[in-house]
Amino acid sequence: MLTNDVLDQWDRAHFFHPSTHLAQHARGESPNRIVTGGKGVHIEDRDGNKLLDAFAGLYCVNVGYGRTEIAEAIAEQAKELAYYHAYVGHGTEASITLAKMVLERAPKNMSKVYFGLGGSDANETNIKLVWYYNNILGRPEKKKIVSRWRGYHGSGLVTGSLTGLKLFHDKFDLPLERVMHTQAPDYFRRPDLSLSEADFVAHCVDDLERLIAREGADTIAAFIGEPALGTGGIVPPPAGYWDAIQTVLRKHDILLIADEVVTGFGRLGTMFGSDHYGIEADFITIAKGLTSAYAPLSGSIVSDKVWKVLEQGTDENGPIGHGWTYSAHPIGAAAGVANLKLIDDLGLVQNAGETGRYLNEQMRAALGDHAHVGDVRGEGMLCAVEFVEDRDMRAFFDPAKKVGPSVAAALLKRGVIGRAMPQGDILGFAPPLCLTKAEADEVVSKAAEAVREVLG
Ligand SMILES: Cc1ncc(COP(=O)(O)O)c(C=O)c1O
Repeated sequence: MLTNDVLDQWDRAHFFHPSTHLAQHARGESPNRIVTGGKGVHIEDRDGNKLLDAFAGLYCVNVGYGRTEIAEAIAEQAKELAYYHAYVGHGTEASITLAKMVLERAPKNMSKVYFGLGGSDANETNIKLVWYYNNILGRPEKKKIVSRWRGYHGSGLVTGSLTGLKLFHDKFDLPLERVMHTQAPDYFRRPDLSLSEADFVAHCVDDLERLIAREGADTIAAFIGEPALGTGGIVPPPAGYWDAIQTVLRKHDILLIADEVVTGFGRLGTMFGSDHYGIEADFITIAKGLTSAYAPLSGSIVSDKVWKVLEQGTDENGPIGHGWTYSAHPIGAAAGVANLKLIDDLGLVQNAGETGRYLNEQMRAALGDHAHVGDVRGEGMLCAVEFVEDRDMRAFFDPAKKVGPSVAAALLKRGVIGRAMPQGDILGFAPPLCLTKAEADEVVSKAAEAVREVLG
């Protein structure tokens, strides 16, 4: 077996890590962690640490680590048939079964699912299909996509453009021209502290309406949003937000893409975030929770309304010019089937609702009154604590002080992984959906200790 030192050296010499300070890593100035195993909500590393992963990897290991049911389904599929493509009507028992299972769980207006590999490519698919849709309907000018600041939709060319975070744009020549951003539904960041939630929703609607008026409704094809903001800071929307936004979209015949990469398959305590907030989308993006990340697989679920036009398009133009070698990969599909069964068998959607509520209540009770905690928020198995210099003035810390990362580091020292969210001093939690109340207590008590260590 290779020693940790050798692996560390190879890692820094050869491995281009995503979302990493490349220079510091190559110079050996930032830590690396070599992960070796996992069971339930815990992971283990080569240094012998056992950590409670309260972010489920990247909010994706929803059923928890070490589930042999999924590992065995993957192994069986690999032995029987590791690969066949899905072009021109090909499939496997796993991919066909998974498509049926996804549609059984999806909102009733959904019709078909196209399988990809990750959330980014699923959103790329959605945007291509939106453009195709409007071309088939004879509306070649209706192509722009509205996303939200602080939204996260991936890091490809179009999806990195949709992502409303500067770090994903600057120096990459993004966003692309057809993409624009509107107000983030982040009540904590409301422009004026005196606004009520209802006032703030009206402000969001007004911002969208002004964008539509400026660009012209006949140029805007779709609006994309996560039911609750994830990477942008773990922010549930203000009450009434989705109803109000959907009213505007319907008025202007703008399609809605619900990006449920994080919220799909139970995280909010409902099968989809769309169920939770009464969203009636034309497309739903799924990934992470579809296989609990046991194998890479994503999906673009399209509605009946869209599907009819896609059929018309292929009648007029021939087969759809879209597909990847690994679309509906049998191993991912086998993982998906086993994962969705496990979610049902273990009652994880319900647990996400109940234990998630408990986690949020306990976090609020432990930290809500702290002088440097500006907000404790969450929904289902999503929870975030935002730190501020001054609560009453909502004065943020100087980012150079790295308060969020310091609290996350203090928490890690205590054996719990939370995520220092990149867009503020925000400590995020998105544990596996199988979290128990005792584990939630541990997350909360150690988070409170970490906050006290850093902020007093
Ligand atoms: C809401 C949302 N959409 C899309 C993506 C992109 O998914 P991937 O990283 O699998 O490409 C993510 C990733 O975190 C996400 O949170």
